[in-house]
Amino acid sequence: MEKIGMQLPDHFIIGAASSAWQTEGWSSKKDFQDSYLDLWYKNHREVWHNGYGPTIATDFYNRYKEDIQFMKEIGLTHYRTSINWSRFLIDYEHAVVDEEYANYIENVIDELLKNGIEPMICLEHYEIPGVLFEKYGGWGSKHVVDLFVKYAEKVFERYAHKVKWWFTFNEPIVIQTRVYLDAVRWPYEQNTKKWMQWNFNKTLANAKVVQLFHQSYASQHKESKIGVILNPEVVYPRSSAPHDIEAAKMYDLFFNRMFLDPMIKGEYPNELFDLMQKHDCSFEYNDEELQIIKENKVDFVGINLYMPKRVKARTTAWNPNTPFHPEFYYEHFELPGRKMNPYRGWEIYPKIMYDFAIRIKEEYGNIEWIVTENGMGVENEHRFKDKNGVIQDDYRIEFISEHLKWLLRGIEEGSNCKGYMLWAFTDNVSPMNAFKNRYGLVEIDLDDDRNRRMKKSAYWYKNLIQTRQFEANNDHFYK
Ligand code: BG6
Repeated sequence: MEKIGMQLPDHFIIGAASSAWQTEGWSSKKDFQDSYLDLWYKNHREVWHNGYGPTIATDFYNRYKEDIQFMKEIGLTHYRTSINWSRFLIDYEHAVVDEEYANYIENVIDELLKNGIEPMICLEHYEIPGVLFEKYGGWGSKHVVDLFVKYAEKVFERYAHKVKWWFTFNEPIVIQTRVYLDAVRWPYEQNTKKWMQWNFNKTLANAKVVQLFHQSYASQHKESKIGVILNPEVVYPRSSAPHDIEAAKMYDLFFNRMFLDPMIKGEYPNELFDLMQKHDCSFEYNDEELQIIKENKVDFVGINLYMPKRVKARTTAWNPNTPFHPEFYYEHFELPGRKMNPYRGWEIYPKIMYDFAIRIKEEYGNIEWIVTENGMGVENEHRFKDKNGVIQDDYRIEFISEHLKWLLRGIEEGSNCKGYMLWAFTDNVSPMNAFKNRYGLVEIDLDDDRNRRMKKSAYWYKNLIQTRQFEANNDHFYK
């Protein structure tokens, strides 16, 4: 296809992302410091691809200096990761810091800054301490909300003067959706009410941490800001018929607006309260909590965007004996002829970037946002190595180019997007899929002592950062 030249806007950030649990490994972790993910891995290792999990991950804990040199070589100006809550403390009730881990975090932050890379730090990327999950039912408990705030305070005390970009959560809807709504992850308990309570409590926790940050740290660190990383899916109805549009609206309400509205606008959609009542799955809340949510909105949002969501009106009857699930209102729809990433099973539809950019502009006050994740996981990537051993991941370059192209179009039309972070900087461990699908700019060679090697996309990314230009397909939207 004919190509078109694209230019990045001034100051537009090009970065890369990962998380603590997916990279660090368990070096120096104390036995009692399991996170929810660690417990899942320990309790049901059979479902983790080839038995790999968080145990060693990429060994970032021991190799961060080497990795930061790769970031420098690529020219990254921003790197996003998380702090592992379960490892940051040795006493979760009283927020007693694990000095060894805190020291490591400090060293990582300093090493990044020394090399001209801004750290973007998330406080929870599914790393809720396992003991809080077992003892209190995890995010179902308001006590856990308060413990999270205590943990956040310890983190801010130590690093607020060094880190400008903060996030409360990564994808706060994910764990409970997999565990309590769909029951496809350990401990596999279907419980819609718990799903709702986790959704609410995380929104409350977000607001309380935003409040803490604004009250105690923002005035001393004027350039700092705090946001949340959400994963709204751009929902497309099968057709323009009212029943399909209604199905898409319901999906959007339960999975997207559930977090977008309270965290950005400070208020839940009224329809959601009605529906929770109708289906007897209301979360427990009080007016004071709603007020905290109302008064403590995020400064900006990170958005993880990978694939579209397509739905249609139900064509089969809902079994009234099953517990309520939002699927009561829709069915999944597979677009015939859609382009797929077959390894991950996700549709590839780069226009989601544009459609979301316009939505956030029009419906969410054009709040500042960045793409905090987008990327392509590919299985058996070593088959694409050239004679020098460099993975020729042209498919990834095309994936990034096409998504960036559509994002830039949204920015041209006024959307307030300030950057794009690729998932991921290196290959890393996925929940359950472990190292099956590789996402990185930098390869982790499991057969060779986790040796690192830049892929073709890393050289391409380096050139993108240097020249601030790239080429994309000149499809019919670009005349
Ligand atoms: C995002 C998560 O949803 O997608 C990451 O924030 C995750 O933690 C990434 O790794 C890719 O998904 P997966 O399941 O293929 O790892």
